[in-house]
Amino acid sequence: MFVCICNALRDRDLAEAAAQPGVKSAACVFKRCETKPKCGNCVPDIDEMVARHRTANTLVPAE
Ligand code: FES
Repeated sequence: MFVCICNALRDRDLAEAAAQPGVKSAACVFKRCETKPKCGNCVPDIDEMVARHRTANTLVPAE
């Protein structure tokens, strides 16, 4: 499914970029995808994707 229509970026492409270490925002995701936002409509969705990955990566598994 396309999340960013302007740049033809799919959810799986964005999720992969969002999961990389050091990615903290949609701007970082666009940089990893070697593009820039155009209309900006997708930015809130990408920010949410990044937040989900950051939360998942900071959870410590129970022992
Ligand atoms: S939909 Fe992503 S910049 Fe327009």
